[in-house]
Amino acid sequence: MCGIVGYIGNQDSKEILLKGLEKLEYRGYDSAGIATMNQDGVHIFKEKGRIAELREIVDGNVEATTGIGHTRWATHGEPSQLNAHPHQSVSTRFTIVHNGVIENYVQLKREFLQDVELKSDTDTEVVVQVIEKFIAKGLEVEEAFRQTLSILKGSYAIGLLDEQNPDVIYVAKNKSPLLIGLGDGSFNVIASDAMAMLQVTDQYVEIMDKEMVFVERETVIIKDLQGNVIERAPYKAELDASDIEKGTYPHYMLKEIDEQPLVTRRIIEKYRNENGEITVDHEIIDAVNASDRIYIIAAGTSYHAGLIGKQFIESWAKIPVEVHIASEFSYNMPLLSANPLFVFISQSGETADSRAVLVQIKELGHKSLTVTNVQGSTLSREADYTLLLHAGPEIAVASTKAYTAQLAVLSILAAVAAQGKGRTLEFDLTKELGIVANAMEVLCDQKEEMEAIAKEYFPTTRNAFFIGRSVDYYVGLEGALKLKEISYIQAEGFAGGELKHGTIALIEQGTPVIALATQEHVNLSIRGNVKEVVARGANPCIISMKGLEEEDDRFVLPTVHEQLSPLAAVIPLQLISYYAALHRDCDVDKPRNLAKSVTVE
Ligand code: F6R
Repeated sequence: MCGIVGYIGNQDSKEILLKGLEKLEYRGYDSAGIATMNQDGVHIFKEKGRIAELREIVDGNVEATTGIGHTRWATHGEPSQLNAHPHQSVSTRFTIVHNGVIENYVQLKREFLQDVELKSDTDTEVVVQVIEKFIAKGLEVEEAFRQTLSILKGSYAIGLLDEQNPDVIYVAKNKSPLLIGLGDGSFNVIASDAMAMLQVTDQYVEIMDKEMVFVERETVIIKDLQGNVIERAPYKAELDASDIEKGTYPHYMLKEIDEQPLVTRRIIEKYRNENGEITVDHEIIDAVNASDRIYIIAAGTSYHAGLIGKQFIESWAKIPVEVHIASEFSYNMPLLSANPLFVFISQSGETADSRAVLVQIKELGHKSLTVTNVQGSTLSREADYTLLLHAGPEIAVASTKAYTAQLAVLSILAAVAAQGKGRTLEFDLTKELGIVANAMEVLCDQKEEMEAIAKEYFPTTRNAFFIGRSVDYYVGLEGALKLKEISYIQAEGFAGGELKHGTIALIEQGTPVIALATQEHVNLSIRGNVKEVVARGANPCIISMKGLEEEDDRFVLPTVHEQLSPLAAVIPLQLISYYAALHRDCDVDKPRNLAKSVTVE
């Protein structure tokens, strides 16, 4: 949430910053701004709306080789030009961009800024004003920055400019992501995500929480808050420029849906040993098998993947699993078993709600495993073990390929854990995942059919229901989330048997009900539930699996292993949502009010 970039070098910084922000727009897109600094001082351009709108107001004549930029997802203060970053201190000497939430900003305001008239409603402005207060007390900039950081509570990634020193960008982070990108010796950059600055470098250095970094043209100095210098080796960002471009696709979401067969095959390869057997690190197998109960913690789509992961682990490895919504876990912490293992599922690896649980359970001394798409992300760094999704960057706000990658990786984890417990699966998982990948390809080729369904069922409707039983229920939850987040149709997923306990009251003439029928043991019951809603006027759309289909089914999935059916069944739901949103003129990749990587609790 919110994206930060910065550049200090010999070239004009405007275009580099704007291009970087375009790549970070998935992190928030309600307002954006840049500040560039040259011998004439600091020049700020900021605007409500998208980077495209910011571009229009940036003065092409202002040339400056140092700059910072920000794209915002509002937390404190409405999206507006005034609340957009960068923010400046009263004297305009200091200019800041910030991602995160300063939890004690009200106290800081009361303690330090009684006489300052703040220009915005943001928590961020407080930080830059406090720095200036420390300067007024006679502190040097580094010390003022350090003292300010040491009194901040909450999360932050900060880029700061000092008008009196155009040769440095002051940088710091706590809980929010921020990387330093190393240039060729004549420049350096900062970015919330390496993909923003891949345009100029693929060499990055991680910053840890509560460190300060002084980014100059030729050098980067990292210090802890005690002032000790820290050496850290850079790493190469394993990102291909084509991974982060749309190519010929109209939207990232469609590209990412289409990538699912490839990602599934890649996962099979990544988790195969030299003998062709699926495997994960021994340490992870041991941790799973040493646990008497697994607690899956996740949010949104990742939570939906966790519900299906529970089925894999319980039915194959026979380890009890609980799945918890991250944001609720702290308040409703269950009685924990004697040897729990916590599994965090997070595409971004940055979700603040999940991270809060990780911090809490680490304090209790419990082991943790993160299943994530982003190596080096906060949840990956801070957990004991990591399993990577290998899905490639997911840029559309609505998660698609990360979800199926999560299911594939969780199935591998479950199968390996089962083997570790001396249990033999009745099928060859590698082969079955291969069949799933083929089925995904067939499904991705049926876009016209999905578009027709979207047009038929969701032209103007305000609401929709997704029903299913067993794992189909969980896939329905994900289908409903996809539809609502990008098309703004109120969509809810329900267990087929639960509908008549209240929600059926909402069924009216023509209400779309998408029913999934991929599970033989509940096929008759879900079809019974469809009849119940049809009797009350619903417009049913049954999506079944080959072998279970009936005459009026609207769409039939190719056969895959029944337990792996969610990996295939979700694809029509993703595509139907995509086309429903498209036909309603919604911004598919950047739906309103949302942002990817939810870094605030
Ligand atoms: C929905 C979606 C969100 C995320 C959720 C968790 O399409 O993307 O529901 O799944 O915000 O994010 P991660 O997986 O990054 O922790």
